[in-house]
Amino acid sequence: MADILPTGPEPELEDLLAARPQLRMHGQDGLCLEDVPLNAIADRYGTPVWVYGAGTMRARLAALRAAFAAEALPVDIHYAVKANDHLAILNLFRSLGAGADIVSLGEFLRARQAGIAPADIVYSGVGKSAAELEMALAAGIGQINAESAEEVEMISAIAARAGLTACLALRMNPDVDAGTHAKITTGLADNKFGIAAAEIPPLYAHAARLPGIRMTGIAVHIGSQILSTEPYRLAYGKAAGMIRALRAAGQTVDSLDLGGGLGIGYRDEPGLTPRAFAAMARQEIGGLDVRLMMEPGRFLTAPGGVLLASVILEKRAAKRFVVLDAAMNDLMRPAMYEAWHGILPVGAAAFQSPRGPADVVGPVCETADIFAQDRALPEFKPGARVALLDAGAYGAVMSSNYNARPRAAAVLVHGGQFQLITRRQSHEALWEDEIIPALD
Ligand SMILES: Cc1ncc(COP(=O)(O)O)c(C=O)c1O
Repeated sequence: MADILPTGPEPELEDLLAARPQLRMHGQDGLCLEDVPLNAIADRYGTPVWVYGAGTMRARLAALRAAFAAEALPVDIHYAVKANDHLAILNLFRSLGAGADIVSLGEFLRARQAGIAPADIVYSGVGKSAAELEMALAAGIGQINAESAEEVEMISAIAARAGLTACLALRMNPDVDAGTHAKITTGLADNKFGIAAAEIPPLYAHAARLPGIRMTGIAVHIGSQILSTEPYRLAYGKAAGMIRALRAAGQTVDSLDLGGGLGIGYRDEPGLTPRAFAAMARQEIGGLDVRLMMEPGRFLTAPGGVLLASVILEKRAAKRFVVLDAAMNDLMRPAMYEAWHGILPVGAAAFQSPRGPADVVGPVCETADIFAQDRALPEFKPGARVALLDAGAYGAVMSSNYNARPRAAAVLVHGGQFQLITRRQSHEALWEDEIIPALD
């Protein structure tokens, strides 16, 4: 993310490794994730392949909960499905007692498929269609976060027609700059998300009188990859003020959804710590007497994932290019947000070898298909493997079939073992939904 990256020299490979306890360079086996050699996974399932560490994800959820518990703030975590929606990952969070935050019927059905109860699902998003709302309400969805007055009317009409009651929160747009990349900031007045603070009190009172609706509370989500507590402090301060004002006006407000957005360290920037976040939350909203909810995605899943790729060849031209078998269709973040991902050699010998600057690119026919520029890396022979780090969020979920490239396989590492969780897409699957009209 070009506009928020720290300046200064890039971290050395050793620094990247040292900052990630889930990774270890073994003298013989090479790079390991949670003590499982990535080479063993690539040998078995080929590359490119997503590899996720269940232990890392579990530990991050536990750390977040512990930080809130230390502030005596019970919190219900609804994992943001959009960050990583493999059924195995959803099932992992379900098994740990988390619910789901979803933004489409597809995500709702995925969460259900992974065994998450409808009552533990929160539906966010600026454009929920009537068909999506009908199905979610009929299934008994736990809460809907409405993003406009128009949507409130729509939900009331659908719920009343079906003889159901929608538990509704209003997503407040606090008009706060999250200090993150423009493409992932959501809490500014001119972003499409949420409802302006001034409109909330009359809308809340109106919605509470509508048929088919039970008002539950307020939701705020100001963006993603947020590295400072300050924008949150402003947003939650405003949300707390809003809740007090609504209650003073006689409204019932039972819940506050704090959204997600907690940023992680992709390069050498310090990620937001659960402790700092929870301490700030207690200062702003402690004593409010609400059911606290949260919707983190990236924080829980990004550091636990790598995209494992093979070097096709090194091309020496005006620059040195390391061409991988993974591309922007697999991991889109660098092309989309100029995002920085650490890249580590998987082989122990390569890790020790002299390094020189190289651009790391994929084979897709776009100049934007570039993972790193002028990165200090050892020389790679064809077939050598590299790991693109912190790829557990907004990675596989954003993959496409551009250039008719099948989607990569995915593997879950847990308890020192590894298991395939998504098969590599076949070439035949690329056209299985297509119809060729008879023209000749
Ligand atoms: C409404 C909502 N909740 C939660 C999230 C999860 O954000 P993150 O993955 O940054 O925690 C998002 C993503 O932007 C979102 O739009």
